[in-house]
Amino acid sequence: MNGGGARWIVNGVAFVLFILLLITGVTAWLLPHGGGPASAVYGVRQVLRAVHQISALGFTVTIVVHLLLHATYIRQNLIRSGLMKGH
Ligand code: HEM
Repeated sequence: MNGGGARWIVNGVAFVLFILLLITGVTAWLLPHGGGPASAVYGVRQVLRAVHQISALGFTVTIVVHLLLHATYIRQNLIRSGLMKGH
């Protein structure tokens, strides 16, 4: 697979994970807080938090891979704008 294909997959995975983060994050925020284990939505919030945490980890990894795949582009632009020395 060439670099272009890998970029599309990484970007697709990052997008799906971001949507998952958005949905679980907003829902966990809107559902009633407090109440502890006695609360009716306690179990739901536990699941939302778990999914939010796993997606956050996955999203962070995909963003790092995304930046690595664009390393040449980033380096070239830093050199062109004088923020980094060329070799
Ligand atoms: C996209 C919109 C997002 C919203 C609306 C959102 C919302 C929230 C909320 C409400 C909580 C507290 C959950 C709780 O205490 O029950 C939380 C926790 C957290 N969020 Fe997000 N979040 C978003 C995106 C992200 C992103 C992009 C990351 C990291 C890549 C992230 C990482 C975390 C982590 C590590 C926690 C702490 C885990 C926990 O205590 O459950 N979130 N977020």
